[in-house]
Amino acid sequence: MMALVRAGSAWPIAASRCASRLLHVPVERDPSFAQLLDKDVSFFEGVLGRSGVITDPDALEPFNRDWQKKYFGHSKVALRPKTTEQVAELLSYCSSRRLAVVPQGGNTGLVGGSVPLYDEVVISTAAMNQIIEFDDVSGTLVAQAGCVLQALDEAVGQRGYMMPLDLGAKGSCHIGGNVSTNAGGLRLLRYGSLHGSVLGLQVVLPEPLMAGNTAGGSSPDAGGRILDLLRTLRKDNTGYDLKQLFIGAEGTLGLITAVAIQCAPRPPSVQVALLACPSFQAVTDTLRAARQRLGEVLSAVEFLDASCSVLACEQLEGVRNPLVAAEGEQGAAAVTHGSEALSPFYMLVETHGSNQEHDLQKMEQFLEAVMAEGCVSDGTLAASEAQARAIWRLREGVPEALARKGAVYKYDVSLPTGVMYDMVTALRGRLEAAGFGSGAGVQVVGYGHIGDGNLHLNVSAPRYDTALLDLIEPYVYEFVARHRGSISAEHGIGLMKAAALPYSKSALAIELMRRIKGVVDPHGIMNPYKVLPRG
Ligand code: FAD
Ligand code: MLT
Ligand code: ZN
Repeated sequence: MMALVRAGSAWPIAASRCASRLLHVPVERDPSFAQLLDKDVSFFEGVLGRSGVITDPDALEPFNRDWQKKYFGHSKVALRPKTTEQVAELLSYCSSRRLAVVPQGGNTGLVGGSVPLYDEVVISTAAMNQIIEFDDVSGTLVAQAGCVLQALDEAVGQRGYMMPLDLGAKGSCHIGGNVSTNAGGLRLLRYGSLHGSVLGLQVVLPEPLMAGNTAGGSSPDAGGRILDLLRTLRKDNTGYDLKQLFIGAEGTLGLITAVAIQCAPRPPSVQVALLACPSFQAVTDTLRAARQRLGEVLSAVEFLDASCSVLACEQLEGVRNPLVAAEGEQGAAAVTHGSEALSPFYMLVETHGSNQEHDLQKMEQFLEAVMAEGCVSDGTLAASEAQARAIWRLREGVPEALARKGAVYKYDVSLPTGVMYDMVTALRGRLEAAGFGSGAGVQVVGYGHIGDGNLHLNVSAPRYDTALLDLIEPYVYEFVARHRGSISAEHGIGLMKAAALPYSKSALAIELMRRIKGVVDPHGIMNPYKVLPRG
């Protein structure tokens, strides 16, 4: 496992770490950025008070490492503003001093985008956690960027609504982080992407694009830096849809301070089934049947392979696969058919509807059909909320189980469904042939949002190893490019994939991205080294 480089270490240590390609293409510190001085800390304390400025090395440690403990930065200061105006003051100052900045939400990102690489200033949204308004006729929510997704879901749940996105990191991730990564999650199939459900944003830009004024709104725009796109309108065709630029920008263009989002009515009827499939062809056949037979109520179709199921059950307390019941154990759910042996693949199929009887009948008919067709060898339908949660935990627990096992190389790709698992099989064969098979403690596993054509290909290994990485990359990216897929379906590019962007974007598209970045952030202080390839 890679050694932890202590926060507060001088940056040359980081440079030597990056020189060995352990996790990403090495990147040198940009010398145009200033180094933090005492006067900078004094300024920040003047804006936020001492409690909003963190400089103690131990307290800084969580800001300097990601959820996977894979990427480590060396920031000397983390800032916790409470208001948009404070963010504007901080960015104005950082820009004038050429201090590089990393916006940080819940720090659950999986591509090294949320942590500094060198000594960037971290601006955390953790203290920006207020709900601004909720309209229970339209279901529109306006919230500060640092609200935790699960807290928002619980709050709108009390008013009969649900957040339009859900993901395993919901207990920690922030809505601003979700928007900045354009997180997909578990129900994109039904509720769509954030490009559709985000109605408005408030963003603080690093540079004023014009002289500050109050035109068109009641609040001053802090010297032309506060971009107020915070509307709750469903329809607004007034030229370029600028908010879309910030959805998925991963903090490279500005800092999102507030989000307006369309919530969905909370469904009174939820059905969750876990199915065992004998082959990947059977998985795709079952997906097609789910679309055709469950149509308007279908809310999620996920898959995991046998290794993922075993990992989740082994690594996580209380997690079990109800289709692989322990000897002598009663079937945990209402409908259990078939054998109890491990199956090559499992699928989670969920419906959200308004009529329990109707939805249950549809789900049972679907299950009967796919079993009769031989696509599903075994299935269980949750008979209670607790059983539904347990089935979800098996799927949602996979990233945590992998993280507990050891080092993980994570890939998050969009591919045509038909070839999706070929990539897992091909990589597994390639690694085994090179001596990185199960004997070496290496496992290649696949799971993900099959209903959205999104595969999570993960390689679990005892430790990070350059020889192993060289076998995986660029092989994985070349496979994706050959099939006109995407090297990032939902996790983003961050630091991990910046150099690989050309596998999914043309030179012209990357040039346009660069020019947009140059206009909005001419000094490049916003989340440097991330998203755009260097040079
Ligand atoms: P962070 O990790 O803090 O930041 C992510 C990026 O956004 C960084 O580049 C950061 O600089 C930027 N950023 C954060 N806040 C702001 C802001 N206010 N303004 C501008 N930039 C900002 N992702 C999915 O898409 N689907 C999943 O199903 C999914 N499941 C996950 C399950 C687990 C267990 C974990 C650990 C992660 C998962 N993720 C998933 C990855 C991750 O993208 C999401 O957790 C989430 O969207 C990140 O939100 P965050 O607040 O943690 O952002
Ligand atoms: C998931 O779908 O579980 C997340 O995207 C996290 C991961 O890929 O590990
Ligand atoms: Zn995912």
